[in-house]
Amino acid sequence: MKKGKILVAGGMGYIGSHTAVELINAGYEVLIIDDLSNSNADVLDGIEKITGTRPVFVQQDLKDKEATRAILKANPGVDGVILFAAYKAVGESVREPLKYYRNNIVTLINQLELMAELGIKGIVFSSSCTVYGQPDVSHLPVTEKAPIQPALSPYGNTKQINEEIIRDTIHAGAPFKSIILRYFNPIGAHPSAEIGELPNGVPQNLIPYLTQTAIGIRKELSVFGDDYHTPDGSCIRDYINVVDLAKAHVVAMDRMLENRSDEPVEIFNLGTGHGVSVLELIQTFEKATDVKVPYRVVGRREGDIEQVWANPEKANKVLGWKAEVSLADTLRSAWNWQKRLRERGIQ
Ligand code: UFG
Repeated sequence: MKKGKILVAGGMGYIGSHTAVELINAGYEVLIIDDLSNSNADVLDGIEKITGTRPVFVQQDLKDKEATRAILKANPGVDGVILFAAYKAVGESVREPLKYYRNNIVTLINQLELMAELGIKGIVFSSSCTVYGQPDVSHLPVTEKAPIQPALSPYGNTKQINEEIIRDTIHAGAPFKSIILRYFNPIGAHPSAEIGELPNGVPQNLIPYLTQTAIGIRKELSVFGDDYHTPDGSCIRDYINVVDLAKAHVVAMDRMLENRSDEPVEIFNLGTGHGVSVLELIQTFEKATDVKVPYRVVGRREGDIEQVWANPEKANKVLGWKAEVSLADTLRSAWNWQKRLRERGIQ
């Protein structure tokens, strides 16, 4: 049974492609717009292999409003939007702030204007736990009520500004609803290993660096600091399986389109509720895969947060969603994906 048509903006990327799969599995029709600036066209084959359906895909930069409007007019009947399309490299955003402000903010403004114009009923927005900065220990695990802290990077600032743009627009009477999802640390790949994370160049994030080290592309993994105020001295994060995360988008969209949300803008933390240190994560990977990861503790990385993990109770209760895949299974999926990339001669 077809449930409705969803525009997945940035649907060829890491989280977007996993979400496209879960939307199709749930009976939605999917339209993907993506400029392929951090992904490639093969992702469509992966989505088709998993679901048996090849979604309509149009390559387009979403900063171009006229072109985006033309695509939506040529593919009418979109009920909801999920907005993933954004730049996300923290370090690059510090070096090239205007690139980040222009892309991440103009894309959202265009989308909101087009939604009002074309009668699209709701938008699910990808936000990040980065908005909480380093929460006071008394706020751990963090709920949605924890204070927002000044952003540590232009990237983080674009997430805060985008949340405000959505709130202000809807409070001013825009004819649609929004659910803002604050992700903790999404990791892993689809269990089929048909889609996964494809980092550009040297990975900045822990898991792709770790799996590339395990397979021999990198010599050793640097652990950024073991002198933090945590039980083993390394930083703590809430690592959430990407398929679990994708499923949260489906229930959020169901909720908006079925008008079950009382508030026009709702915010949910998406995490497991468990904090895991970098050193614990390496051990879990080694146990789960039987592969050794050469690593060395080096100095702290500038701007890193010491510890943050989610209180996901609101999403558990209100959305009826819960992270289910274990960390060991998630790390195994990341490893299987890395091996698949090697088979394909990509990395
Ligand atoms: N780490 C290492 N070695 C590496 C890479 C990372 O030890 O080579 C450590 C980091 O110090 C950190 C943890 O692994 O403690 C996770 O680091 P990631 O870079 O994978 O993720 P971050 O938590 O730093 O950043 C992520 C997203 C951002 C988002 C942020 C929110 O990448 O987009 O969470 O806190 F803003």
